[in-house]
Amino acid sequence: MPHGSFINMKIFLIGKNGQLGFFLEKTLRNNKFQVFSYGREDLDIENFEKIKSEIESRSPDVVINATAYHLVEQCEENPEKAFIVNAVAVRNLAKICKERKIIFVTYSTDYVFDGLLGHAYDENNEPNPLQVYGVSKLSGEFLTRNYCDKSFVIRTCGVYGGKLGSRSKKGNFILNIMKQAQGKKTLKISSEQIVSPTYAPDLAIGTLELLKKMPPFGVYHLVNDGTCSWAEFATEAFRKAHIKTKIIPIDRKGMVESVRKPLFSALKNKKAAKIGIVLPHWKDALARYIKYLSV
Ligand SMILES: NC(=O)c1ccc[n+]([C@@H]2O[C@H](COP(=O)([O-])OP(=O)(O)OC[C@H]3O[C@@H](n4cnc5c(N)ncnc54)[C@H](OP(=O)(O)O)[C@@H]3O)[C@@H](O)[C@H]2O)c1
Repeated sequence: MPHGSFINMKIFLIGKNGQLGFFLEKTLRNNKFQVFSYGREDLDIENFEKIKSEIESRSPDVVINATAYHLVEQCEENPEKAFIVNAVAVRNLAKICKERKIIFVTYSTDYVFDGLLGHAYDENNEPNPLQVYGVSKLSGEFLTRNYCDKSFVIRTCGVYGGKLGSRSKKGNFILNIMKQAQGKKTLKISSEQIVSPTYAPDLAIGTLELLKKMPPFGVYHLVNDGTCSWAEFATEAFRKAHIKTKIIPIDRKGMVESVRKPLFSALKNKKAAKIGIVLPHWKDALARYIKYLSV
């Protein structure tokens, strides 16, 4: 496929019912891409033979994998499953793409970092995941890059979007705190974890931009601009949604969680910024989400 001919690209999208997958499909179709999209019920990422034959029959230019097993606590209890979905299946996709000269796009996480750097991580910082989820996603990254040289690994953080959020997570941070706040005067939210919450529609647009610009393959961070604690994020959400419940920031110093999580895992889009891809500030993204939820 010649450089710049993105308009005619055929995209094979797996995970269309996820928070990100939904907006990827929408954004790609609105931009006149030809999209073949699959939910888990159509195509299980663990079914290598079916995936292979489906990709071969569609002959796409790009495969995008928006699936994940990302319930962090469950990954700890079921590491086999975490590695099958986040690493083995990803490696299989990378292998098919390599064989058929297809561009492969897959997503990873801020949880590949240990959170000890003290400021936002860019693509050059050394990963050091603290739990099974992060290790399985980092394995998926390495397998992608080592099996398919024409690949983009996009790391993101705190994804939210859609009216229902993520099916496996039974919502997302914003939907869940809105539910928890009902009938309450106060709500305690963690202040010790610093993140870059990312709005799925913005991440979808960032992915599209990457495909249009087609920079050198490799790892890219794509998050909404700026950093905040979950308590700050919740406070801003309630302010915008006119919810009266008061957020009480609590610093648990990482002691309450059963799984170790990075404390400062915000990301910085250093490589994307260099090629002119800039995602809006998280406050701007959050305002659009609250408005979207209200209609
Ligand atoms: N959500 C976050 O906070 C966050 C943070 C950092 C990075 N990320 C990464 O961003 C990407 C997108 O996340 P998201 O928030 O959009 O996730 P999501 O809403 O949970 O969507 C994931 C999708 O994967 C599907 N899936 C899971 N196992 C599958 C399998 N075996 N075969 C086929 N499909 C399967 C799920 O199907 P069902 O709908 O049937 O469950 C779901 O539709 C993932 O790579 C994730 O690791 C997310």
